[in-house]
Amino acid sequence: MSSHRTETARRRTFAIVSHPDAGKTTLTEKLLLFGGAIQMAGSVKSRKAARHATSDWMALEKERGISVTSSVMQFPYGGKIVNLLDTPGHADFSEDTYRVLTAVDSALMVIDCAKGVEERTIKLMEVCRLRTTPIMTFINKLDREGRSPLELFDEVESVLGIQCAPITWPIGMGKRLKGVYHLVRDEVYLYEAGKNYERQDAKVLKGLDHPELEAALGAEALSELRDELELVTGAVEPFDPAQYLAGKQTPVFFGSAVNNFGVQLLLDFFVEHAPGPQPRATTTREVDADEEKLSGFVFKIQANMDPAHRDRVAFMRVCSGTYSAGMKMLQTRTGKDVRIANALTFMASDRDIVDTAYPGDVIGLHNHGTISIGDTFTEGEALNFTGIPNFAPELFRRARLRDPLKMKALQKGLAQLSEEGATQFFRPLMSNDLILGAVGVLQFDVVAYRLKDEYGVEAAFDNVTVATARWIYCDDEKMLEQFREKNAQHLALDASGALVYLAPTRVNLQLTQERWPDVTFAATREHA
Ligand code: G4P
Repeated sequence: MSSHRTETARRRTFAIVSHPDAGKTTLTEKLLLFGGAIQMAGSVKSRKAARHATSDWMALEKERGISVTSSVMQFPYGGKIVNLLDTPGHADFSEDTYRVLTAVDSALMVIDCAKGVEERTIKLMEVCRLRTTPIMTFINKLDREGRSPLELFDEVESVLGIQCAPITWPIGMGKRLKGVYHLVRDEVYLYEAGKNYERQDAKVLKGLDHPELEAALGAEALSELRDELELVTGAVEPFDPAQYLAGKQTPVFFGSAVNNFGVQLLLDFFVEHAPGPQPRATTTREVDADEEKLSGFVFKIQANMDPAHRDRVAFMRVCSGTYSAGMKMLQTRTGKDVRIANALTFMASDRDIVDTAYPGDVIGLHNHGTISIGDTFTEGEALNFTGIPNFAPELFRRARLRDPLKMKALQKGLAQLSEEGATQFFRPLMSNDLILGAVGVLQFDVVAYRLKDEYGVEAAFDNVTVATARWIYCDDEKMLEQFREKNAQHLALDASGALVYLAPTRVNLQLTQERWPDVTFAATREHA
């Protein structure tokens, strides 16, 4: 195999999906710990404040270094190179999360054993389903009382529509937690509490007939376990790699992230079975990871990582070929060649200049406002990767300046912050208003704060009568012109200059759509 193929085959790129509080941050820490990427768990921790309150989020943003370097975490494990892409925790950042999920090859779902399947998990799983992303499941907080495993399986199967195949099985729960049984390895792993900051090399006993097992679990627990396993193996399907890769079955692990328990079993199985870099669709053809020529797409932009330098970083997933420092890449949207000398890679606690990157890896490109989410880069071919959505915002506000002389700075700030994709910025054709759209209400606070902090502009956001937005497309130039004339008072341009209909009410939108059957009103804009 060529070294490109070998390196590609080693990559495992994934994201964790969960409802807030299920333990995503804790599990991330532990995975990094096992991967040797961090010596002491704890560095990822502060991000979790994000979901609690705006003020926490602000304080947190000051520690931008942490939240940024943890956007992409790469570590070697079991002969593979694992890339863990972070997804924002707060529900208001769900659009970002969707886009991160377009850049992974598989996902890991974390479920709280007491709470079961929660609302955010359902939404995120819908996204995974759209792309038939293979999913592994970690049922967390086994050190607390939770629901019975079979009840949880039923819920996952009925609510999420995916079959569960247990790989590990809990022996007790809460105070009675004794360990887990590994169904594939036929081994019992004993649980020891309170080992959260070091590797837990749990005691392993081979086979359910191991002579020490009765002493370790107690006679009652052991016979209960045997009975349960007999029942379980009759009731559930065994792990089937093909079904997993097709997104139809999820291998399930039980454990306690905070106690380092069951995590390494998950990671071992993950590097063995999770898919490597998958082919990706473009507008013209499918691109295979083994192709020699470089291609990739931008799925995330983070602005003002260092406010003093206004530096912005575009995160590009490599889809094929090899990136090497100093190479020239074609930005297909603009048709321009750009030389990339100093792309970043993101180790868990540091950023470094990367010399080479392979399919599945993510590199950070310095961006001076010329790169947008969804942009494709290649070694010359005019490709455009598809499927990186921009959702119509649900909430709208008009930006109002406290100091009218700061108009320029306000416009610039709104435009640059909307490049990150969390908010969208509209300029109506008929007025000088600046309208901001967002998927969640927290975002207006965040933007107001960042405008002040990073651009020195004090702005407030007022209500505005916009119910929803639709991107307008029409092949017939003449009709489009007529449409513009007749509806100018509701039309605006988004940050990229695309035409958008800002509907004052849903009824208005419906009527307008009926009146203009040949005009397309799109609820998402595909980037690129
Ligand atoms: P998130 O990123 O999914 O939102 O969850 P996070 O890891 O922040 O975990 C949420 C809470 O659950 C934290 O407690 C965390 O310590 C706890 N937790 C995570 N894994 C386990 C587990 O295996 N068992 C138990 N019992 N708790 C777990 P917190 O009180 O919010 O924070 P902290 O003060 O304990 O750090």
